[in-house]
Amino acid sequence: MSEATKRVRVRHFAKAKAEGIRITGLTSYDYLSAGIFDRAGVDFLLVGDSAANVVFGYDSTVPVTIEELIPLCRGVVRGAQRALVVADMPFGSYEASPDDALHTAVRFMKESGVHAVKLEGGVRSGPHIERIVSAGIPVMAHIGFTPQSEHGLGGHVVQGRGSGKEQLLADARAVEEAGAFAVVIEMVPSDVAAEVTKAIGIPTIGIGAGPDTDGQILVWTDLAGLSTKRVPRFVKQYASLESTLHDAVSQWRSDIDAGVFPGPEHSFNGD
Ligand code: KIV
Repeated sequence: MSEATKRVRVRHFAKAKAEGIRITGLTSYDYLSAGIFDRAGVDFLLVGDSAANVVFGYDSTVPVTIEELIPLCRGVVRGAQRALVVADMPFGSYEASPDDALHTAVRFMKESGVHAVKLEGGVRSGPHIERIVSAGIPVMAHIGFTPQSEHGLGGHVVQGRGSGKEQLLADARAVEEAGAFAVVIEMVPSDVAAEVTKAIGIPTIGIGAGPDTDGQILVWTDLAGLSTKRVPRFVKQYASLESTLHDAVSQWRSDIDAGVFPGPEHSFNGD
């Protein structure tokens, strides 16, 4: 997408797909990282419910709440000048009814200033997406492996294999029909993701879905190597921030032990 774009809007997603320009997205959970990713030209920032793991240290995305995510969204919105900011609606905040889904989406829009919301599920979430979109709120859908249904899906399992392909296509068509402006496709064989991408008119954003989707997203701490946990096969690490930060802090501690920090250049004199 062109970096000259003032603020990325949902119409730019459609334009990018039409022109074959790849869309980039990263998760972000705070003001500082949002500013860095924004200046690097990332098109959209997702305040993902992966904050459950990355920020709050839960074992899965299931426990995280609206109240925990809204303050993170506020920081990201303040940090992003160009990128479209999307809030992930957490598990339990939208499934019960389209009205619940709209209520949660409205909370994120009003209380944090995000530009769009994301929710998981294909055919089953169609009515919920339709309701939110009819209120003027852009929705990004999420199909394939949907982490909030981890237990129902039997763990972190690749989706869309064998007969699962037809379900995936049905899910993709359902979210397009419901009015989603884009759809995240997670952990799906590359050829299946490519087929879905050709079959629908809205952009597909892949994560573990091969190179032929209209865009790509990753969890930023995975990309940057800021984790002690095993990263999924679909992640490429572009930095090793965990060891960089660990080494910097260890050095600072040793400097204090050795009495070499703070030095005169870091101290004030009385004149
Ligand atoms: O919460 C998240 O980080 C996500 C991405 C995996 C797309 O939903």
